[in-house]
Amino acid sequence: MSETKNIRNPVVVALDVSSANQALELVDQLRGLAGMFKIGKELFTTAGPDIVREIINSGEQVFLDLKFHDIPNTVAKAGAAATRLGVSIFNIHALGGSAMMKAVAEAVDDVATRESLPKPKILGVTILTSHTRESLTEVGIASDLESEVVRLAQLCEASGIDGVVASPREISPIKNVVKTPDFVILTPGVRPHGSAMNDQKRVMTPSEALSAGANYLVIGRPITAAENPRLAAEQILAEILG
Ligand code: C5P
Repeated sequence: MSETKNIRNPVVVALDVSSANQALELVDQLRGLAGMFKIGKELFTTAGPDIVREIINSGEQVFLDLKFHDIPNTVAKAGAAATRLGVSIFNIHALGGSAMMKAVAEAVDDVATRESLPKPKILGVTILTSHTRESLTEVGIASDLESEVVRLAQLCEASGIDGVVASPREISPIKNVVKTPDFVILTPGVRPHGSAMNDQKRVMTPSEALSAGANYLVIGRPITAAENPRLAAEQILAEILG
């Protein structure tokens, strides 16, 4: 496969399934077509670190989507554990603050250096897209949603983590303010032409999101719920590389 924005294959397939067997079946079906697999709270809570190890040992890369948010010491230790587990990306909540983000960045650097392990990328989640103006006010955030997202992305950059998770419409505003050239943007809410929106509201196609500046695209149901997941993934890659 040819290079796309210096990433071999930007498609991260969301393994939003409830059992290790279903996850492994999808990984097998999509062998060679997914750049990475995302393991979130449902699968991790069901199948634990064993499923992460099994997928990595089979030669695939894993994005551990557990959105850590706790005191700096706890998140730093969770980050060190994720590094030892061998994930390629994991994420944290930017609302945990700069001390938390700096602590986890240092802990990952430290454990990777001392134990000669590859360093995972750490991405910040800014404001969950399920929030509305009203629900933000409810939790005491008064500024408007987009400026809050951009402010938190800048805080992620200043705290020394590698990038952010951002919805398609947030990519450009973030790109406009960050100074780090390789600041990573990972984008869910991606829908190929003609596929069902499901519960996603503001979507972009894979090529639109990449043109806007996304480095990774998280795609779940358009691939995993397709009658033929392999074909669906092939079509998405053809569109991207087209
Ligand atoms: O099936 P679909 O492509 O909508 O899956 C997208 C994945 O990205 C899901 O795992 C979902 O939790 C995640 N996600 C999202 N929107 C966000 C953040 C994460 O859809 N704003």
